[in-house]
Amino acid sequence: MPSPQLTPPKYLSQEDGLTQECKTLLSSLPRDKGWVANHIFQYEGFWHTARQLQGVLTCQQHFQANPDDLLLVTLPKSGTTWLKAITFAIINRSRYSFSDHPLLTVNPHELVPFLELKLFLENQIPDLTSMASPRLFSTHLPYVSLPESAKQLGCKMVFLCRDPRDVFISAWHFTNKLRPQAIGTLSLEEAFERFCRGVINYGPAWDQILEYWKQSLERPEKVIFLKFEEMKAQPSVQLKRLAEFFGFPISEKEEKEGVVEEILKLCSFDHLSNLDVNKTGKMPSGEEHSAFFRRGEVGDWVNHFTPGMIEKYDKITEEMFHASGLHF
Ligand code: A3P
Repeated sequence: MPSPQLTPPKYLSQEDGLTQECKTLLSSLPRDKGWVANHIFQYEGFWHTARQLQGVLTCQQHFQANPDDLLLVTLPKSGTTWLKAITFAIINRSRYSFSDHPLLTVNPHELVPFLELKLFLENQIPDLTSMASPRLFSTHLPYVSLPESAKQLGCKMVFLCRDPRDVFISAWHFTNKLRPQAIGTLSLEEAFERFCRGVINYGPAWDQILEYWKQSLERPEKVIFLKFEEMKAQPSVQLKRLAEFFGFPISEKEEKEGVVEEILKLCSFDHLSNLDVNKTGKMPSGEEHSAFFRRGEVGDWVNHFTPGMIEKYDKITEEMFHASGLHF
């Protein structure tokens, strides 16, 4: 059963405060039932809440990338929080000691802000010029919807991919924590039916994964494709791969000093989820930090999927992924 309910986040439930441009666009877009918000809207082939779409539009129009910006890209519930923590720790490892590290007192989402869900939310245009270089940003945006300057300047991007079945189960639990009591719990069956049609925030999951998979094959020096499952299975190998990709490789000296293990320990599920800041704090948009930590394991889907769900999922995945060489 889903865990107890938390305050619904503003970005999932509010449809007010939108610009006229956004309202006009919304009225022309396909819409469906939202998982938490009343409706979600299909824009450039992917689904967004109204409030989120406002952030997407503002970000597309106003975000000016720098060539050395680093962009962390994920589908929601793919391990974004973990990736943010690890990346921040890699990039800043010479600035902070592990005993007095920002990750001990600041939630990873504050340290690596979302473009469309934080910086450009509510039609705000932030001044990002004073951010230290390389600037770290995160986004759930599909490749097609990324701000043009990020694509044209060839910013490096990390796509963290997770088995869509675990993404779905994680999203279903998360949703039911956030849904207002008045609308009740979203059943697993209904959520699955929508997920399979692609109707989920930033879905269809398969399309977004394939977009970045293709980019990573075409431009491996600019787009790296990581898997949550590989991060769990071989964390130090993947961490070193990531550091190398960023252009901050782990030196032999650092390796001997145990830097890789220190970063992994700092960013581990057990460590992060037990810090006060992550047990008690809230995102500016309303979600409890604790909602971003549930089990952090691979394969929880087997505890939820019925034979019918497995059959339906396998059929869609075979159709979507068969030519790509992607497997989970
Ligand atoms: P589960 O719901 O399967 O436990 P996101 O950060 O993209 O919202 O993803 C949340 C998922 O990542 C949740 O998955 C959460 O438990 C897991 N997670 C959060 N921090 C993690 C960490 N440090 N290591 C591994 N998994 C983590």
